[in-house]
Amino acid sequence: METAIEVKGLRKSYKDTEVLKGVDFKVKQGEIFALLGSNGAGKTTIVKILTTLLKPGEGTANVNGFDVASHPEKVRHAISLTGQFAAVDEILTGRENLIMIAKLRHLTNPRQVADNMLERFGLTDAADRKAATYSGGMRRRLDIALSLVGNPQIIFLDEPTTGLDPEARIEVWKTVKELSDGGTTIFLTTQYLDEAEQLADRIAILHEGRIITDGTLAELKKLFPPAKVEYVEKQPSLEEIFLAIVGKKEDK
Ligand SMILES: Nc1ncnc2c1ncn2[C@@H]1O[C@H](COP(=O)(O)OP(=O)(O)OP(=O)(O)O)[C@@H](O)[C@H]1O
Ligand SMILES: [Mg+2]
Repeated sequence: METAIEVKGLRKSYKDTEVLKGVDFKVKQGEIFALLGSNGAGKTTIVKILTTLLKPGEGTANVNGFDVASHPEKVRHAISLTGQFAAVDEILTGRENLIMIAKLRHLTNPRQVADNMLERFGLTDAADRKAATYSGGMRRRLDIALSLVGNPQIIFLDEPTTGLDPEARIEVWKTVKELSDGGTTIFLTTQYLDEAEQLADRIAILHEGRIITDGTLAELKKLFPPAKVEYVEKQPSLEEIFLAIVGKKEDK
């Protein structure tokens, strides 16, 4: 399978603080890759570097075969980003938001593109209301819809479900799975272990500036010492694996 994203020895500092201390990972085309990490671990920093919003320090990052530092325009052509904080324009309606992005992307039929997205994301009834009146879940759906205008090959979702209620989270998960089934590569960050467990083909854990583990859920589960003396054999949850690796369970 082709590689969609390849990061090698990536470092990044903000002033004197080194946030990324040599990050390595690969994402294959068509997979859902979840980057898991606590608050402040550097997830958004990685997303910003991969989406050309921030320059890498040392190391290299390739997206869709292009180096983010030397060929940012080529990278931008292949990707879309749904940031941690919504990019929806609240004064515009859902439909107007979509039409605006379709125009910015120079698509030939912005109205049609908007109609299709509204339909696909279940926003047709709300299409002509200002986005300011949308619920958190609707806004997030619109946000993801906006990022899909123009059919990018790789989509970045930075904490796509933070702040959503359980129902809206499940809706976003469904959307992500559908996109993946359609062949889109998905790079998502999350603080929710169950989200990674639900969605991801592969999971990488970012901790103290490095990827400390990377693999499928099944592979991560194998790393965990098997339960021996238990009466009932219990599979470790990703949360247990995470805490065992990070080792900071009872420090508060
Ligand atoms: N522009 C900046 N200037 C200085 N420090 C920054 C800047 N952006 C981020 N940082 C610091 O870098 C670290 C990593 O931040 P980042 O936003 O990448 O984390 P994160 O994993 O996305 O966290 P969260 O889960 O809270 O979104 C944090 O300690 C943050 O305070
Ligand atoms: Mg973040």
